[in-house]
Amino acid sequence: MKIDILTLFPEMLEGPLSQSMMKRAQDKGLVDIQVTNFRQYGQGKHQQVDDTPYGGGAGMLLKPEPLFEAMDEIKKEGGGSPRVILMDPAGQPFDQKMAENFANASHLVFICGHYEGYDERIRTLVTDEVSLGDYVLTGGELAALVMIDASVRLLPGVLGNQASAQADSHSSGLLEHPHYTRPIEYRGMTVPEVLRNGNHKLIDQWRHQESLKRTALRRPDMLAKLDLSEEDQDYLDQLRNQE
Ligand code: ADE
Repeated sequence: MKIDILTLFPEMLEGPLSQSMMKRAQDKGLVDIQVTNFRQYGQGKHQQVDDTPYGGGAGMLLKPEPLFEAMDEIKKEGGGSPRVILMDPAGQPFDQKMAENFANASHLVFICGHYEGYDERIRTLVTDEVSLGDYVLTGGELAALVMIDASVRLLPGVLGNQASAQADSHSSGLLEHPHYTRPIEYRGMTVPEVLRNGNHKLIDQWRHQESLKRTALRRPDMLAKLDLSEEDQDYLDQLRNQE
């Protein structure tokens, strides 16, 4: 996979992309990440990238020319047609499905804005407008890092144990069940008996029911989107009757 990031603050990306799983993915050749400061396509002596809005109003807008020229270069180098993702608090909210979708693409381009917003014509360059969540950041860099991390960790070979990506909270539509490691007892808190008896059928059932319980308590909105089996439904009814 190839990832291009267009930003005015490349240093903001250096740390997170050079550590842990993102470093490993690049070292193993599973992803090639290129950060470009699009100020190099800025206009005039001051390499201007922003300007005041027509019609008045507060703040500066990113001008179209630098981003169009940066995209010309990326398309020339990469060939094909990349998925071009605009970081925008007014975009579609990012979620696990979107991460899975991005992980299937061969070339992603993330455009990180700063300042008040984008000249509207910039939107004709993009295939997706995506928001990290319902809050406003000072720029798109942190949002792009989160989306890249969530997508790259899904590429085969990035995580040590592929099964752990499958079991993650959100990939199944349910939150993950509780986990325990040694010691068996700590400050009066003990590891549930079922996890210690080696009966994998019972362990799987316990884990699934704990996932259901946790999701029902914390994220009923997620549960409402699922087509639950009769058995799961019975388990949840039973929980509710206990309350
Ligand atoms: N830029 C500013 N706020 C943002 C958000 N919530 N998501 C994506 N990009 C942004």
